[in-house]
Amino acid sequence: MTDIQRFTLANLALPTKTLFTGYLLTIGLGLLMAGAQIMLTHGMADGKPGLSVDDIVYSYHGNHDGPNASKLEAKLYGSMKDNAPPEVRLELLKWADKGAPANEWESSIKPKVDEYCAPCHANMPGLANVADKAVMDQMTKRDEGASFSTLTRVSHIHLFGIAFIFFFVGWIFTYATGFSSKMKALLIFTPFGFLMLDVVSWWLTKMNPGFAWLVIIGGFGYSVASTVMILSSLYQMWISPLRAADKP
Ligand code: HEC
Repeated sequence: MTDIQRFTLANLALPTKTLFTGYLLTIGLGLLMAGAQIMLTHGMADGKPGLSVDDIVYSYHGNHDGPNASKLEAKLYGSMKDNAPPEVRLELLKWADKGAPANEWESSIKPKVDEYCAPCHANMPGLANVADKAVMDQMTKRDEGASFSTLTRVSHIHLFGIAFIFFFVGWIFTYATGFSSKMKALLIFTPFGFLMLDVVSWWLTKMNPGFAWLVIIGGFGYSVASTVMILSSLYQMWISPLRAADKP
C-alpha cells in the first residue's frame, strides 16, 4: 500500500517546524520528569531505589490507594509526605501496611511519632494527636471506599491528559517519512494501547498483586513508542531532511 504524502517533516515551513519542535521538546522533557518522579515516589516504595515489581505492588495493591488504605497511609502519601525523613515515613507506612501491630508501637513507632509528628499534632489545637495510641488506631483503620474513588480520579485524569500528549505526538509523526504506512500506524497506536493497558493494570494490581508486571510493561511500552516518534520526528525536521521525492 502506498500513500501519497504531500507534507513531510523535512518539507514543512520553518514556523511549523518550530511549533512542532517546541512541542516535542517540551513533551520529551515532561516524559523525563515523569520518569524521574516515578523513580522517586513509586521507585522508593519498597525502600530501595529503582523501580521494581515490589514497588508497584506496594504502590497499587498495598495499600495507600488500594482498597484498604488507611488515613495514616493516605496522609503519608499526601499532605504529610514531607513531615518525616523518607526512612521514617517508610517505616510508618510499613507499620500501617502490616495493620499497625500494637507490639511495635511503644518500641519503635511512638518514638518516631513523638519526634516528627507530635510537635504539630500534640500541640496544635484541633489536630488529631497521632502520638496518642487511641487516636493513631483510628488513623490506621482501613478505609474501603475512598481509595476506589482515588483510583477512578487518577485513572480518568491520566487517560484524558496523556491521550492529548500522544495525539499531538502521533499527529506530528504522521508527517514522518521512511516508515511504511503500517509501521507508522502501529507506532502511532502503540502508546494509546499501552496507556489503556497501564490504567487497566493499576486496577488489576489493586485487586491482585500478580498483575504488577503489567503496570511496568504498560509504562515502559508507551515511553518507548513515544520516544521513537519524538526522536525520529525531530531528526527528520532538522538533521536528515529527506525531500518528498526521496520517500519510499
Ligand atoms: C508542620 C506540622 C505537622 C507535622 C510535623 C505533621 N503534621 Fe500531620 N497534619 C498537620 C496538619 C496541619 C494537618 C491537617 C491538614 C491535613 O490533613 O493535611 C495534619 C493532618 C494529619 C493527619 C490527618 C488527621 C485527620 O484527623 O484527618 C494525619 C493522619 C497526620 N497528619 C499524620 C502525621 C504524621 C504521621 C506525622 C509525622 C510523620 C505528621 N502528621 C506530621 C500538621 C503536621
